[in-house]
Amino acid sequence: MTEHIIVEQPATHPGVRIIRFNRPDKKNAITRAMYVTMTEALTAADSDPAIRATAFLGTEGCFSAGNDLGDFLAAAMGGGMPREVIGFLHALVRSTKPIVSGVDGLAIGIGTTMHLHCDMTVASARSQFRTPFVDLALVPEAASSLIAPRIMGQQRAFAMLAAGEAFSGEEAREAGLVWKVCEPQDVEAATLAIATKLALKPPEALRISRDLIRGDREDIIARIDEEARHFAARLQSAEARAAFEAFMRR
Ligand code: COA
Repeated sequence: MTEHIIVEQPATHPGVRIIRFNRPDKKNAITRAMYVTMTEALTAADSDPAIRATAFLGTEGCFSAGNDLGDFLAAAMGGGMPREVIGFLHALVRSTKPIVSGVDGLAIGIGTTMHLHCDMTVASARSQFRTPFVDLALVPEAASSLIAPRIMGQQRAFAMLAAGEAFSGEEAREAGLVWKVCEPQDVEAATLAIATKLALKPPEALRISRDLIRGDREDIIARIDEEARHFAARLQSAEARAAFEAFMRR
């Protein structure tokens, strides 16, 4: 448990579990403890019949700046690949209930790629989706190298995942990463309205439909694990360590 993730079931939105990033002073950068809390919240939601949908939210102007770079530096110094990230990604992929997300502002690294595993994402136009993996001497994660080319085409996937180009909320919508764009102050209400609507649908029909739409989970898990092997090796590289140290020195 960490106070940097808030998990709640608001009475105003029956059947909805909210998982909210709550580390605004660090731009909601995700620590190992935060991954563990989110994994537990997803797993528990799956086995609780009272929970019918999960909504990921951030704070005003910031969804998440991605993995905590201090944790990456520790891994580069020999701590090993943070397994908590992989545990979270597996839980996200294996989730049997609908997942929606609402983004206002920064969505970096896994703060972008996790939406590939969400069923409907709402974003403000001012949002910035960016994955500077290569700039950090890393490689794409979260099976983004498999799913992004499928949904947005080779060129856009390369622009996002390899060239590190930033996508606005509207560009992310055009790329198929986002369902709807709205005003910043409406993101949360719109996201929760979608989650509540999904929570009211016949759960078994929704589960089967979602399974059919999302396709083979094992392919996705296999790509997450393949990417993770490269990622772990890159984390140990001198160029990655230099990139993390440069960020920490700023
Ligand atoms: N890991 C750890 N700390 C982070 C972080 C991250 N991914 N992103 C931001 N922070 C921290 C900063 O170190 C800073 O902490 P401090 O106030 O103790 O110095 C605080 O959050 C605010 O960030 P700051 O950089 O001052 O805000 P900004 O508005 O100028 O820039 C970002 C915001 C997100 C553009 C910039 O922080 C950034 O590039 N972060 C790294 C993103 C990244 O590469 N993520 C990993 C992708 S794989």
